[in-house]
Amino acid sequence: MATIERAEHQFGGGWTEIKLDAVSDYLNFYTQALKARPSPDNPFETWYVDAFAGTGDRTIEIDDGGLFAQPDATIERLRLDGSARRAIAVDPPFRHLVFIEKDPGRFAALEALRTEFPHRDIRCVPGDANGELKSIFENGPWQQRGRTTLQRAVVFLDPYGMSVRWETLRFLAETERADVWYLFPLHAALRQLSHDHRMLDPGKRAALGEIFGTADWEQRFYQQPQEAPADLFEAANRAGPKRIANAGSVEEFAGERLRTIFSFVSRPIPILTHRKLQQFSLFLLSGNKNQRAIDLIEKGVAAQVKKYGGR
Ligand SMILES: C[S@@+](CC[C@H](N)C(=O)[O-])C[C@H]1O[C@@H](n2cnc3c(N)ncnc32)[C@H](O)[C@@H]1O
Repeated sequence: MATIERAEHQFGGGWTEIKLDAVSDYLNFYTQALKARPSPDNPFETWYVDAFAGTGDRTIEIDDGGLFAQPDATIERLRLDGSARRAIAVDPPFRHLVFIEKDPGRFAALEALRTEFPHRDIRCVPGDANGELKSIFENGPWQQRGRTTLQRAVVFLDPYGMSVRWETLRFLAETERADVWYLFPLHAALRQLSHDHRMLDPGKRAALGEIFGTADWEQRFYQQPQEAPADLFEAANRAGPKRIANAGSVEEFAGERLRTIFSFVSRPIPILTHRKLQQFSLFLLSGNKNQRAIDLIEKGVAAQVKKYGGR
């Protein structure tokens, strides 16, 4: 078991492995499927863009004593590959890899990772995912629009919380050439939806509007109780709509909203914590309108949805 020497990034649990397995299985499918398309002599130029890249590694701690730990029990630290390192290992390889990271320490670790692979085209970009994605997809070879161009990308949006702007999803859809793995922050969104409508402050409203790209969530998720109050006290406390949303209806609404801008939206893979709380919903999205491309995407994601428990 390796001890950690690299810049450490501790996050997630067993559920993180499910998320990363689903995405990297798809990446291997993707580069294999595209390697001789549209023609063996002139194949697509494949890009992988990790917009919340971390360090490339992740660290987990294993308590070797479990429930009956001896006083001298040790905690073993294990380094596992994070999304960036997994993407580098994809075979056939991506032609270009871009890692975006806001945190300076983690960004430095990504730069160190890049130097391990001097013959690969790996670019590390410091800064905010929303702004940097826009500048990547609006410049260089991506400037030229249209499906006849050869650039094709998989973008991984793996934020901790509600950091992905609706506008970012919209322009990724509009490229028509990017498949987007989006870790929708279901639990964080539900936490913003206070049970009492009166507790919805401007901050919550803005965050929810950004994540759903509309203000319609308010009408959908709140309702005035119908039954007459039992007494004056209950009447006073009931003065306003109450939340009727739960995890299922929020996930369903997220899917509906994503379908307004993407031509393909997969069934979500539920990402649960060890306490079986659904923290995230992992969607694969694409703005590609070509039916053959959609069939291929569907085939690639179907295996992941089946394997990792999509409903
Ligand atoms: C869940 S971690 C990503 C883990 C990574 N995908 C992996 O598997 O190794 C989220 C990362 O996003 C970074 N981050 C947070 N907000 C960001 C933003 N607005 N733009 C870019 N990076 C951000 C954090 O510093 C953190 O490293």
